[in-house]
Amino acid sequence: MRNSFLLFTLLLLAGTASANDTAARENDPRDQAMIDLAWDSGCFNCHDVHEEIRGPAWVEVARRYRGDDTAFERLVVTVREGGSGNWGDDRMSPNRRVPEEDIRTLVEWLLTLE
Ligand code: HEC
Repeated sequence: MRNSFLLFTLLLLAGTASANDTAARENDPRDQAMIDLAWDSGCFNCHDVHEEIRGPAWVEVARRYRGDDTAFERLVVTVREGGSGNWGDDRMSPNRRVPEEDIRTLVEWLLTLE
């Protein structure tokens, strides 16, 4: 009984990991730290990793700029100064109260999401 429960749990975990790598990644301590930072920085008032809210899902942002070496520096400026017209009708207001270092850390991380 106990063994079959363990086996079931392992199968469930394995299934979840392969079906959704990002969910598995969210158990990564670095990802958890980034998610906390995104909450503390107010990003998740408008963003989510997977879902479009007011702003685009961060996995979609990562997909759009994958392979674009100039994206990182541009996006850091966009997040700090705000932006519009790239994803829809809504605009991102400036995030000047968020320390530059935190913006850089968050953008670097979100560009790795898949
Ligand atoms: C007030 C709501 C709001 C907040 C807060 C917000 N965003 Fe946004 N964000 C948006 C919207 C809306 C867009 C889409 C703008 C557009 O269409 O160009 C966007 C776009 C982006 C983009 C893509 C920009 C592009 O040019 O493709 C990135 C990256 C991003 N946000 C990161 C962040 C980060 C990091 C934070 C937290 C420091 C943050 N956002 C906070 C609403 C917000």
